[in-house]
Amino acid sequence: MKPFFITTAIDYTNGAPHIGHAYEKVLADVLARYQRLRGREVFFLTGVDQHGQKVQQSAEKAGVAPAEFVAGITEKFRALWTKLDISYDGWAATTDAAHKAAVQTLLQRLFDEGQLYKAAQKGFYSVRQEQFLTEKERGPDGTFGAEWGEVVELEEENYYFRLAEHRDWLLAYIDAHPGFITPDFRRAELRNAVEKLSGDLCVSRPKSRLAWGIEFPFDPEFVTYVWFDALVNYISFAPGFDPQSKAQNPEFAALWPALHVIGKDIMVPAHGVYWPIMLRAIGFSDEEMPALLVHGWWNISGEKMSKSVGNVVDPAALADQFGPAAVRYYLVADIATGQDADFSPERLIQRYNVDLANGFGNLLNRTLNMAQRYRGGALAPVAAPSEDVQTLRAENFNDAAVYREKFDAFKVHQALEAFAAIVTRANVFVDTSAPWKLAKDPTAAARLDEVLVALVESVHLAATLLLPILPDKAHAALAQLQLAPAPLDAPAVLTASHQLGAPEPLFPRLETPAAS
Ligand code: ME8
Ligand code: MG
Repeated sequence: MKPFFITTAIDYTNGAPHIGHAYEKVLADVLARYQRLRGREVFFLTGVDQHGQKVQQSAEKAGVAPAEFVAGITEKFRALWTKLDISYDGWAATTDAAHKAAVQTLLQRLFDEGQLYKAAQKGFYSVRQEQFLTEKERGPDGTFGAEWGEVVELEEENYYFRLAEHRDWLLAYIDAHPGFITPDFRRAELRNAVEKLSGDLCVSRPKSRLAWGIEFPFDPEFVTYVWFDALVNYISFAPGFDPQSKAQNPEFAALWPALHVIGKDIMVPAHGVYWPIMLRAIGFSDEEMPALLVHGWWNISGEKMSKSVGNVVDPAALADQFGPAAVRYYLVADIATGQDADFSPERLIQRYNVDLANGFGNLLNRTLNMAQRYRGGALAPVAAPSEDVQTLRAENFNDAAVYREKFDAFKVHQALEAFAAIVTRANVFVDTSAPWKLAKDPTAAARLDEVLVALVESVHLAATLLLPILPDKAHAALAQLQLAPAPLDAPAVLTASHQLGAPEPLFPRLETPAAS
């Protein structure tokens, strides 16, 4: 099987990481860990987008050089990924010398091939915002609003990438490849945007306006503007990529194409329009186009999170307060992949307490406690189990299949419903089978054995399914059970006698913090 090459967006280093950044990394990490659990080789690439106007401005405001400014913010991102146990294999930092060299080689090649050209643009320019304005920015009275400050007419030369000529190809590509975009409902949105495509893409800024970028190798008066810097990270940091040639070397070809995990705001135009066309111009065939997994946004009380509103949620502080496991679990359990969700610390606490503390944690703990108390932790396999035990096994196995199916479709929240179903079923089985009564009845010894075995099998399977989401906790649970991960393609049946470890609480309940 081909390796699983998964990427996230690279995060802007113009401010501290927020909960949206954390969600995207946890989602990708959970998908990567699921594939590793299935035995597939994974390359997980994430990183930071360090150049550009916004960073240049933030650095100026902070009174430091851009390089120093991004180094500080980049450190915050890396520390957060360590705290949240994000298992990335590659780190894409766009100020990296190798990345810059790859971008320059690509720009040179595309220029030599006539796919980049220089042209003059005349238009209205906002000095304050440092950007050209379009008709969209004109108010109903025909003037540009006060927010743009002084607006002057300006003529400026720039480099353009031949985008428009690929429009019909991209439409046909989208129609013929439904797997290009997940979820399905995003395809129409993208198609509309491609249909409206006209004109080429400006890919440069004069250095006088933007100095913090990658220089054009054939014209040092210009730097690349956004697209050929940030998007190219997906290939420049992929092992074995060769920017010199259209033909790719075997190491890169073995890994590519990638699955790009991105937020809904950067599908149109960046990842859905510009990127496939850029790749095609670089020499990639239809078979070498990446796929997009487009996730929704976390809002705050129905509102968009923003610095100006002052409602930005700091994921590092959350992890310090509630623990990284609670944050990871909440961020993938309480949102439907592709949809938006509302962030709420009360929901975070509730999901943790219900699913993990009272659910899985309690099941693990009471199962081990009973097995220790009644059998000294020694389990004996049962030759011909009762019907309720067989039913429990069959239903567990069915849930494992649902889990796989949902994960394969990136529906992590639904995969977790299958996990929760196994836990709930086993907790109910504890109550209906009442091992504490069986333990008092010498004629029920065989029944007690099969009940304990069935419970251990259930918690073993649940711990395994938890591995991609909460690797630390799931490994700790497996260590208490003294079992390796269960198979997911076959019922997890205990066939030999087995010695369990000692119980140790894994998920202490979270208290709702007192209102401040
Ligand atoms: O867009 N909820 O960087 P970025 C969920 N550097 N996801 C969110 C979110 C929220 N509230 N806010 C942002 C960039 N995101 C570019 C990407 S890729 C070659 C260049 C997501 O730091 C957003 O959708 O603004 C994006 O996928 C990621 O966070 C980084 O956003
Ligand atoms: Mg953004």
